Amino acid sequence: MKLVFATHNLNKFKEVQSLLPDTIELVSLTDIGCYDDIPETETTIEGNALLKVKHIKENYGLDCFADDTGLEVKALNNAPGVYSARYAGPNASAENNINMLLENMTGIQDRSARFKTVIVFIQSEKIEFFTGICEGTITRDKKGTLGFGYDPIFQAIGFKKTFAEMTLAQKSEIGHRGKAVRLLIDYLSKT
Ligand code: IMP
Repeated sequence: MKLVFATHNLNKFKEVQSLLPDTIELVSLTDIGCYDDIPETETTIEGNALLKVKHIKENYGLDCFADDTGLEVKALNNAPGVYSARYAGPNASAENNINMLLENMTGIQDRSARFKTVIVFIQSEKIEFFTGICEGTITRDKKGTLGFGYDPIFQAIGFKKTFAEMTLAQKSEIGHRGKAVRLLIDYLSKT
């Protein structure tokens, strides 16, 4: 079965691909020649993931799934949340976003946070949502060079390493995206 994952993010693509059974051939937006700028204008993670799959379905006629992820920090009223990619500004790098978050958390003792991934799958006219959450804390300093985004400052509950110090397999086993992908796989195996 061929399945389009509506992303250009190679890190996300590799993570999801490593979890899928061999019977599913994963195809990216790059593979289907889609370089459209799909706006993320919704105010929820679910809404932005939905925008991506609807765009692909309407313009390319393909069944596909998309993910959208946000980092929710309790002491910051769940910011950056849906604005995680643009926390430090419209063209912010991961480093800019991390620095902004660490700065905004100066002096904050409760460093509880969670990653939330929502996968939206569109097949014919049917739309399904799968949510994966990973609870953890924001470290005081960046640690590790693996992964991407906010990984160097996120430590899952019960672990001493940040996501950026874990292998892809370790991160996927306990992480938000891995949880959401496993729900999608479970759904696909039953349909
Ligand atoms: P999006 O899902 O690609 O829109 O990601 C939103 C923001 O969260 C971006 O800044 C990503 O770098 C970051 N992000 C998404 N997934 C992860 C992850 O697994 N670890 C760390 N940061 C992530």
